Amino acid sequence: MTLRFSEKHAVVTGAAMGIGEAVALRLGQEGAKLSLLDVNETVLKGTVVKLAAMGLDVDGYSVDVSDEGQMASVFQRIEVQKGPIGILVHAAGIVGPTSTKITNYSTADFDHVYHVNLKGTFLAAKYALLSMEKTGKGRVLLIASIAGKEGNPGMVGYSSTKAGVIGLVKGIAKEYATTGITINGLAPAVIQTPMNRETSAEQLQYMLSKIPMQRIGNVQEVAAMTCFIVSDENSFSTGFVFDISGGRATY
Ligand SMILES: NC(=O)c1ccc[n+]([C@@H]2O[C@H](COP(=O)([O-])OP(=O)(O)OC[C@H]3O[C@@H](n4cnc5c(N)ncnc54)[C@H](O)[C@@H]3O)[C@@H](O)[C@H]2O)c1
Repeated sequence: MTLRFSEKHAVVTGAAMGIGEAVALRLGQEGAKLSLLDVNETVLKGTVVKLAAMGLDVDGYSVDVSDEGQMASVFQRIEVQKGPIGILVHAAGIVGPTSTKITNYSTADFDHVYHVNLKGTFLAAKYALLSMEKTGKGRVLLIASIAGKEGNPGMVGYSSTKAGVIGLVKGIAKEYATTGITINGLAPAVIQTPMNRETSAEQLQYMLSKIPMQRIGNVQEVAAMTCFIVSDENSFSTGFVFDISGGRATY
């Protein structure tokens, strides 16, 4: 297989498990030097040990993506450690309450989901772009959700913050359109990951019923598409939110 990411420094957030872990594995297998960020220190350590045992160049950093102080200092550290950032895949996110009408959805829960999903995405993009500006090259992929395109009922925090991520992609991509830096999004429908463990059966059934392929996706499928989006050969797309939804979104 061609090593598409040879010598590139790739930062993956939310990399301890799920989509982020699968993306990190594939980027690393295709030659990237990996900096993995996650708030779950214990699981992150296990992931780093596993990838290092496979011969990958990988370091892990325990960080809360919604905390600007932590993000500023970790991005400074990883740049010293592995050089300017060439790729950011931002996969850290939380689902928050499900099957909960807005009138029963606590403001504290909304604030928490907002901080992690939208402010965290803003901070990851901001600090990665500060590094990419130094070389004038880079690929940023922010993971949104079909919930941000269509709005899933019962998940107001999740749907609205993921819609915010889509707006973020579209806006900042234009700020960098004449540089060698592209910024895109990815909007998955339901993917088999630990994130869905807490989601109510009723909510999962609703989401599955909307998918024409009548199945949920897997993390290898998301990693494959992600790696194309952040590759050099994907050079004429920016500000776009790619679909990976088994046919649910056809736009
Ligand atoms: N799984 C799905 O069905 C699905 C569908 C659409 C979009 N997504 C999005 O894909 C991304 C990855 O989801 P996943 O399914 O792999 O979830 P997951 O729960 O399996 O993994 C998410 C990771 O993010 C980390 N994380 C959570 N809060 C964080 C914080 N404050 N700081 C740093 N790390 C934090 C978690 O510790 C975890 O390792 C998320 O943005 C999610 O919204 C997932």
